[in-house]
Formats: sequence, C-alpha cells, structure tokens
Amino acid sequence: MRKITVITALIGSTIAGGLAISCGTNTPAEPTPEPLDPTVISAGKDIFRFDTFGDEKYWTDTLRMHEVIQKGVSPATALSVGFKVDVDSLPQTVRDALAAGKVDLTSPATTVTLLKLNAVVGLKGDVRTVGGRDTLARVGITCALCHSTVDNSFAKGIGHRLDGWPNMDMNPGAIVALSPAVPAALKTILNTWGPGKYDPRTNIDGQSTPLVLPPAYGLAAVDILTYTAEGPVSYWNAYVAITQMHGQGSFSDPRVGVNIVQTPDLVTPKLTALRQYQFSLTTPKPAAGSFDAAAAERGRLVFTGAANCASCHAGSTYTDVNSNKLHAPSETGMDGRYAARTAEKAYRTTPLRGLLQHAPYFHDGSAVSLAAVVDHYVGALKLQLSVQQKSDLVEYLKTL
Ligand code: HEC
Ligand code: HEC
Repeated sequence: MRKITVITALIGSTIAGGLAISCGTNTPAEPTPEPLDPTVISAGKDIFRFDTFGDEKYWTDTLRMHEVIQKGVSPATALSVGFKVDVDSLPQTVRDALAAGKVDLTSPATTVTLLKLNAVVGLKGDVRTVGGRDTLARVGITCALCHSTVDNSFAKGIGHRLDGWPNMDMNPGAIVALSPAVPAALKTILNTWGPGKYDPRTNIDGQSTPLVLPPAYGLAAVDILTYTAEGPVSYWNAYVAITQMHGQGSFSDPRVGVNIVQTPDLVTPKLTALRQYQFSLTTPKPAAGSFDAAAAERGRLVFTGAANCASCHAGSTYTDVNSNKLHAPSETGMDGRYAARTAEKAYRTTPLRGLLQHAPYFHDGSAVSLAAVVDHYVGALKLQLSVQQKSDLVEYLKTL
C-alpha cells in the first residue's frame, strides 16, 4: 500500500492518510528501477503491437467492426481517422505498387489486404478466403492503436513504427461510433472527442471528459501512472486491456466500482512482459534545430528559478509523484471534472517527456502549445515573468 499526499492550494494544507493507491487484485508490486531482460522486452513488444487479448469478442461480435470495415472503410478513410500503416509489413511488390500509385486507396478490399499483411498499426484482422475472396472474419485492437504512430517515411500515415508515441491523429471515439451496435446518444458523445483523445471511463460512469492520449515512453523511473495516479503501470495496463479494449481477463478495483472476472485470463500473465517493453521505450530526443540552445539554457534557469516549475516537475523524471505527491485541480488551475471521476480526485504532476511530439498539453488538451502552457501557469500561479523569460521557458520545454 502506498500513501499519497494530495496538496490543496485553497486551504494551504496537506491532507495525508486515508488515500491509498492499491495495486488492484492482479498487479504485483513493482520495484523501481526494474532490471530489464531483453528476451522479456521482446515478448512485450509483440504483445504491445499485436496482442488483442481476445478483444475480438467486443470489436467483432458486439460492435461488428469487421462488417463496417469490409463494407465501407477504404485505406483513405482509415488514414483520415488516424490509422497508420507499417511499411515494414508490406512486401516490396506492394510498396512498389503504392509508390507508383497503382494501389486503389478508395477500396475497402485494399484495407482487408493491408489487414491480411498485418500492416495496420493497432488493428489485428483475421482474414480468410471465402469463395475465392479475402474476407475479414474477425478484427480486434491492440495497445498500438493509441500508443504507436509511424514516421511518415514512405508517405503521410505510412512509415516505420514508433512505439510509445501517442497517435495524435487517432480518433477512437469516431471509430467506435461507426459501429451499428452503438446507440445514437452514445455516438453523439463519442463524436465530440476528436483526434488524439479518448475517455477511458465513459463506459463505466456514463460521463465524458476525454483525455489527451499520452506517450507510453519515458516511464521507466515513474512509480505511478496516469494523469490521476491511478496506480503502477501494470494496474493501468490491466484496466485498459480488460475494461476498455474489452480483452478477456480479470480486473477489480473497488475504488472505481469495477469487478470483472473472466477465465481463462489472457491479460494478467502478459503484464510483466508488457511492462518491461514499455519501460524499455525511451523518450525521443528533440530534432536538431527544433529549439534555440542558448535560450533553452536560460529557460532552464527560469524553470528551476523564477517560475519554480521544478518544485513539482522535480528531478530527472520531472514529477513529484515518486515522492507520493498529487495536486488538487485548483492548485494548478486545472479543470477538476475528470479528476472527480477517479480514485484520488487529484492530478499527478505529468512527467515531462518528448513534449514537442505530443501537443496539445494537460490532461484535457486545454493548452494547444507550449506557449499556452506557460501562459496558463503565469495566470494560475500568478507568476511575474518577462516576455523574454516566457519565451526562454518555452525553448527549454522543447528540449525535454
Ligand atoms: C483507445 C486508446 C487506448 C488504447 C487502446 C490504450 N490506451 Fe493507454 N492510454 C489511453 C489514454 C486516453 C490514457 C490516459 C489515461 C490517464 O492517464 O488517465 C492512457 C494511458 C496510458 C499510460 C499512462 C501514461 C502516463 O503518462 O502515465 C500507459 C503506460 C498506457 N496507456 C499504456 C497502454 C497499454 C500497454 C495499452 C494496451 C494494453 C494501452 N495503453 C491501450 C488510451 C489508450
Ligand atoms: C504545483 C505543482 C506544479 C507546478 C508548480 C507546475 N506544474 Fe506543470 N503540471 C502539474 C500538474 C499537476 C500537471 C498535470 C495537469 C493536467 O494534466 O491537467 C502538470 C502538467 C504540465 C504540463 C503538461 C504535460 C503534458 O504532457 O501534458 C507541462 C508542459 C507543464 N506542466 C509545465 C510546467 C511549467 C513550465 C511550469 C512552471 C511555469 C509548471 N509546469 C509548474 C503540476 C505543476
């Protein structure tokens, strides 16, 4: 059991005790840093990319997405809702045909072919030949749907996989809303989320305050995950795999009223490998020339000095969550509606990592740019920063 301290600016006092993060029923305690084993990492990579945990029972049997895709989702449509194509899964003949403009990107049959090649990032299809035609028999999703993208090296949306990079083009709400099994009222809600966002609780509490898809890299030294510090990595991986992807397994957390028991459990035995793979994913370095080094160095001093960002974004992880601190929404001027739906009712100081890669910022995407982040804090924390200090701080954030 881990004690968490929630700091509330309003009353200026620290509430401790009573608030404990439990690890759920099926998540072992995790030492930090954990020694990583290359064999285990490699197994975890396959799970992260390709394992559906048996969630076809939802995406196929319930949502009938195999029919939706087969009937009406061309590669052009799929790319427009954020799907990415892994060029390394395509045989040379297909790459050549694509490059020559000889692949019909307006035909759903082409999508089925891409699924047969296992080339659609985050989507796993079981393609069978029926009456001489490739037919999508079953389809499911993997972790990579939301937490991988591609480098666009071949064409926009087509390239080498970048695991751990949130797919800011992915629109999970719009995709689920394509299903004939989803009631109209829910479709309306799902269609408000937009690209790069997902609400991992709507199906549990009926509310909707969508979250920005976060990176799954740079977390090896962070003890507690999610915007609201729900638990360690395996807690959250199990939660998402079972309650959101609808994989088959057991997960229970009385704090949020979830108790799911499904056997055989196709999730729990994979959590260690999945965790090791995630911990092996390091934060991407900012591209050369993407920031002004001299200004960034001045900005570092603003971060640790005048603006005192480092009081919460502390140490090499840029978070104080490892010291068991959480922050009431009011403390940093955040919208508290999402936190109110969670176990701790507070926000974790986000570990800052790869910031240039994944705008917008904050759990709800309320800051569209790093300049907007700084402006938010100037207002919320009543900081006295000059125009120069603000722009230096932005340059520094770009380096993280
Ligand atoms: C439908 C999109 C979607 C899928 C699929 C998905 N996630 Fe996530 N993931 C999210 C969202 C949204 C959050 C933010 C939740 C939060 O922090 O409260 C998140 C949070 C996380 C985090 C926490 C990051 C942090 O900064 O603390 C990790 C790690 C993660 N997911 C890994 C996974 C793994 C592993 C899988 C597969 C088992 C997975 N996710 C499947 C959308 C998704
Ligand atoms: C009192 C603690 C605290 C201080 C001081 C603080 N932060 Fe934060 N920071 C947080 C919390 C909590 C979050 C998560 C808020 C959310 O997602 O809604 C956050 C989120 C962020 C994010 C968003 C990261 C992402 O991936 O979405 C950035 C960037 C950031 N802070 C930068 C700064 C800068 C720059 C300063 C100084 C001007 C600063 N913070 C000062 C607690 C703090």
